[in-house]
Amino acid sequence: MPAITELDNSQSLFDKLMKIKKDSGLCYQSLIEKSTELVDKINTIQELKAEKNAVILAHTYVIPEIIYGVSDFVGDSYALSKDAVNTPAQTIVFASVRFMGETAKILNPHKDVLMPATDGGCTLADAINAEQVRKLRAQYPDYTFVCYINTTAEVKAECDVCVTSANVFKVVENLPNDKIYFLPDRMMGQNLIEEMKRRGIKKDIKYFSGTCYVHEEYTLEQLLDMKKRFPNALVAAHPECQPAVCQKSDFIGSTSQIFKYIKESPNKEFLMLTECGLGARLNMEYPDKKIVGTCTFCKYMKSNTLDDIIRVLKNPTPEDYITVSENVRIKAIKSIEAMFEYAEK
Ligand code: 13P
Ligand code: SF4
Repeated sequence: MPAITELDNSQSLFDKLMKIKKDSGLCYQSLIEKSTELVDKINTIQELKAEKNAVILAHTYVIPEIIYGVSDFVGDSYALSKDAVNTPAQTIVFASVRFMGETAKILNPHKDVLMPATDGGCTLADAINAEQVRKLRAQYPDYTFVCYINTTAEVKAECDVCVTSANVFKVVENLPNDKIYFLPDRMMGQNLIEEMKRRGIKKDIKYFSGTCYVHEEYTLEQLLDMKKRFPNALVAAHPECQPAVCQKSDFIGSTSQIFKYIKESPNKEFLMLTECGLGARLNMEYPDKKIVGTCTFCKYMKSNTLDDIIRVLKNPTPEDYITVSENVRIKAIKSIEAMFEYAEK
């Protein structure tokens, strides 16, 4: 999705940020007060982008001044991986976390991919390494190894097919093998088993033990309590949430799928079980929708700032460039291309 509009003054930024409602429980008020200061930084970035032939890809979870001030594309990991393929720009600044930057680099070996995050980790991507995958493959030789996109390039290189939260159910349903090893997310693996049962698809699915520290926080107890407090709210959950939570939700999907579900629903009130950035976007773009209850921050996504975007565009250090060895890239791209094939069948 392209960025909403270009900003040229502090009033237009202020007007946009004001739409993230004060009563929404989202703590972005301080940046509304700083909108004049932000506009100088935003305009510096717009100039640097033109000078360096660069585009900025931003995941929905990053801070609103990046999304609404400087990004060219905003979306979930699936859409952004496609945007990374299609952009003619020579430099990609990926405001997100490292595994997303690596995916862009795998798909664009001749482009520069710059990562502004000061801590681009992810508890899922950090949960498993290539050596562990090799051992599992030796243990389960008949299984098709399916990795979530939230994995390192080295892990993708050891797997058969990659998936994102937007296509995990469809890709696994379309795979010819009925023996599946899914990694690294335990919650998503369990949700996958439930969804295959619901669809009447017989698959023997094993899964690894990783979790997302943001999504695992939502418990069934909290959800039932919130449902009592907001009986008219529909519940939308990310598949990284616990299965007990997903089973009590009205909708399960990727960040972009949740966004679309809420946007298109005739309902007005929603409980949104994912990172706060999605609620901020909904408040901004669909102020008639009320996002109730609570949300949680991903510290890794929130470590992307305008200052760091300026820094990587102006004076990038070798660490700011995403690098993937050609040996790993050639293997990893096969799992990403297999995802495109099975997701679009
Ligand atoms: P999406 O692909 O749904 O945006 O999810 C990425 C992610 O890291 C969720 O925690
Ligand atoms: Fe990783 Fe969770 Fe942050 Fe997504 S929200 S980037 S899965 S730690």
